[in-house]
Amino acid sequence: MKFYLDSAKLDEIDYAYKTFGIDGVTTNPKHIMLSGKPFVTAIKDIAEWIRQNGLDGIDKFPVSIEVNPHLDTADAIVAEAEKYAAISQNFAIKIPATEFGIEAARKLEKKGIRTNLTLVFAPAQAIFAGKAGSLFVSPFIGWKEDNGEDCKRYIKDIVDIYKNYGWYGKTQIICAAIRSPKQIVDCAVAGADIVTAGLAVYKAAQHHAYTTQGLGTFCDAWDHTATE
Ligand code: E4P
Repeated sequence: MKFYLDSAKLDEIDYAYKTFGIDGVTTNPKHIMLSGKPFVTAIKDIAEWIRQNGLDGIDKFPVSIEVNPHLDTADAIVAEAEKYAAISQNFAIKIPATEFGIEAARKLEKKGIRTNLTLVFAPAQAIFAGKAGSLFVSPFIGWKEDNGEDCKRYIKDIVDIYKNYGWYGKTQIICAAIRSPKQIVDCAVAGADIVTAGLAVYKAAQHHAYTTQGLGTFCDAWDHTATE
């Protein structure tokens, strides 16, 4: 399973890469806004960070960059996607899984520009992403579970559908808006390729009360043991 960081903040990306060995990054308009930078500056800074860390190549370290959400024709989405894709070969263009978005993704994939169909909330939307040949599909988990849904079946259905039609691994399933270590585990059990989450979730996944307690016990034993 791969871990992506859901953030456009360079300090968080750098920390998560060095500490948790994240495999890629996902951004969205909200994350860019939270970076405090103008859109193009924020994505160029990420592209520069990729270069500085020797991670060039979409297979090495993909970064999803989302198009202007106001765009409402496939051609407008394609034109904007081409501009962002020219900034870094690592960029996968993130496009909402609407009627126009799916048309745009199909066109971009034919041109060799890799895409991530996002804002997916139902397996039927994920089917269109597989058919479009998108590199990624992003079913959202957190938003649904925040509203009381249990997403285990939803993720497993997408995995099974993708296996049925040979899309599994080709259109990689990024379970998005992950809020807790338990959701990471649910996604892993269901066979999702990737989870994307904020830094706090990865930090929380390293913590267990018994690990802390055990460390205390062992420190105490160490302090009461002669070392020579
Ligand atoms: C997906 O790729 C999105 O960027 C993301 O996970 C959005 O979720 P949020 O509500 O955690 O920002």
